[in-house]
Amino acid sequence: MVSILVLHGPNLNLLGIREPGIYGSVTLAEIDARLNDLAEQQGAKIKTFQSNHEGVLVDEVHSALGVHDGILINAAAYTHTSVAIRDAISAVKLPAVEVHLSNVHQREAFRHHSYLASVAIGQISGFGAQSYYLGFQALLAYLSAQK
Ligand code: DQA
Repeated sequence: MVSILVLHGPNLNLLGIREPGIYGSVTLAEIDARLNDLAEQQGAKIKTFQSNHEGVLVDEVHSALGVHDGILINAAAYTHTSVAIRDAISAVKLPAVEVHLSNVHQREAFRHHSYLASVAIGQISGFGAQSYYLGFQALLAYLSAQK
């Protein structure tokens, strides 16, 4: 059974109350529940994990080695700052899809660069919570095409 690690970075635990005009009103628990439903429908397994700490996210990427087949990640602000998370994804060599609720390219210039983009299969940005669900489908399709 395909297994996907879903990682959420800093401040995403506040979804629902955090700048709803930008990030929407869906909570992280609702996103995780929907991803769990999608996984069940597709015969896949997921583990969801959120942290506000860079090193903890790095550790979680490492722990995916030999356990999960791919990574769905919204690294949030660390997208734009973290060489460490980028290197962790590159090190474990697991296919990763980068997602963002907001369209980062329409926002401040500092959000236009992603350290993860060059080690991800692709990026989905701007569809609100749907970015996660589209990213999840894209990752599953990628993995099934690899078989
Ligand atoms: C985000 C975009 C990032 O720029 C921001 O720092 C976030 C959330 C998004 O999902 O739109 O925290 O990753």
